[in-house]
Amino acid sequence: MLFTIFGATGDLTAKKLVPALYALYMDEQLPKRFAVVCIGRRAYNDGVFLEEVREKLSGVYDKWEDFKTHISYYQMDFSNPEAYGDFEAFVRAQPQNESGDKIYYLATAPRFFPIIAKALIEHRLLTRGDMREKIVFEKPFGEDLESAVSYNRLLLESIEESQVYRIDHYLGKEMLQNIMMIRFTNKIFESIWNHENIEHVKIVAYESETVKQRGGYYDSAGALKDMMQNHLFQTLALVAMDPPYGLSDELIKNQKVKVLEHLRVESPIIFGQYDGYLDEKGIPPTSKTETFVAMKAFVDRPRWLGTPFYLVTGKKMDEKRAEIVITFKDSNCLFEKGQPDKNKLTIEIFPREGIILQFNGKAPGLVSYAMPMKMDYCHMCNVMGNSPEAYEKLILDVIHDDASLFTRWDEIENAWRVIDRISKGKQNEPLHIYKNQSEIEAVVRDYWGDKII
Ligand SMILES: NC(=O)c1ccc[n+]([C@@H]2O[C@H](COP(=O)([O-])OP(=O)(O)OC[C@H]3O[C@@H](n4cnc5c(N)ncnc54)[C@H](OP(=O)(O)O)[C@@H]3O)[C@@H](O)[C@H]2O)c1
Repeated sequence: MLFTIFGATGDLTAKKLVPALYALYMDEQLPKRFAVVCIGRRAYNDGVFLEEVREKLSGVYDKWEDFKTHISYYQMDFSNPEAYGDFEAFVRAQPQNESGDKIYYLATAPRFFPIIAKALIEHRLLTRGDMREKIVFEKPFGEDLESAVSYNRLLLESIEESQVYRIDHYLGKEMLQNIMMIRFTNKIFESIWNHENIEHVKIVAYESETVKQRGGYYDSAGALKDMMQNHLFQTLALVAMDPPYGLSDELIKNQKVKVLEHLRVESPIIFGQYDGYLDEKGIPPTSKTETFVAMKAFVDRPRWLGTPFYLVTGKKMDEKRAEIVITFKDSNCLFEKGQPDKNKLTIEIFPREGIILQFNGKAPGLVSYAMPMKMDYCHMCNVMGNSPEAYEKLILDVIHDDASLFTRWDEIENAWRVIDRISKGKQNEPLHIYKNQSEIEAVVRDYWGDKII
């Protein structure tokens, strides 16, 4: 198997892709004969590249010396169509190419997707119907609806949908995979999973990092396209979908698409930009790109009539944290004493993977006081010690031709439709500059009250 990474000198390769490939290697999940070809335009050789990657890795890499013999660096400007003749010759000469298994992983900004895909197709490195040849696209797929449609058309004119993997690594996370299990294997949840019982849903994805070295890419995307269009909308689709008629990939995605088709975002949308963003490398001094966005959305389907979904994401927050909080309606409590609270189901995605159910009960003592209490399940503590990283799972799925945790074209298309609409009205909304998490959360509270943040 040949696993080729385009954009391999970037952040993603050292942070996620190499660690995931190493974990699969240690777990003996990779084919016996495999090679990882890392494409970058810098004048590196194998040694310099590997040293740079190794410096960025944290954790234990006992078998690194063995593993690194499978990795090589290939210098190439992948935006130059002329460069692909030599690349084709290089690929065909690789001994690991004997089986014909080739995976092309595009860890690049989306504007490079059509250039690279077209060149691979023209050089017959990616041919229609040959399931040994697959192409993986990092998120976001496209820059807007129009570009996404044109990239998709280009692909499907020449190769099969089953050879295309549009990645959203959130879908590989343990707790995202757990949402359907929690909902559809528990009578106590699914029977009350609707607007009659649920007051509101909150989906949060906070990052503590700034844009770091990724300013050039990030400024053209912003939080709306970098996080909302993919990770948060996909999470929302899993929380809000109706039960599928079966567990096939197609039936599940059909239900998720219905959510995205009926997604309506209410004005105002809150946009923020962290203080200091304009001083970051690669950011134009007058940039109005948002690094924080919060929105109130509705799913106009019978199950969710009138239930708000609050979606919140931002960079340079105090903590990296992702979670889903389902807040249930008041229970018309008969007990006057004490301070019962609403039932809440929290699905923790990061840093802890877990589930917390808040309910009310009697406070200990002689008097009948009601008070909130919690049942707390730590998934990462209890399940096999360590849950696999999302990229590990997703790369393995590509190797095994399993696209169930990848996004289908119509999911992406509908997500872009909503984001495009928001992008068009963005200039009319204020951009709140925030120094820290509490400052921007105060803005959110002003709009929607305490219970949201
Ligand atoms: N970083 C993350 O944590 C993360 C997480 C999830 C998804 N993603 C997605 O993954 C993709 C890549 O992210 P990233 O953070 O790795 O981006 P990045 O750090 O900007 O890396 C992109 C790499 O592509 C290289 N490159 C650019 N133009 C090239 C060309 N013409 N020929 C050859 N190499 C070229 C760059 O090399 P030079 O240094 O020479 O310019 C750079 O090292 C993005 O779509 C992003 O949304 C990233």
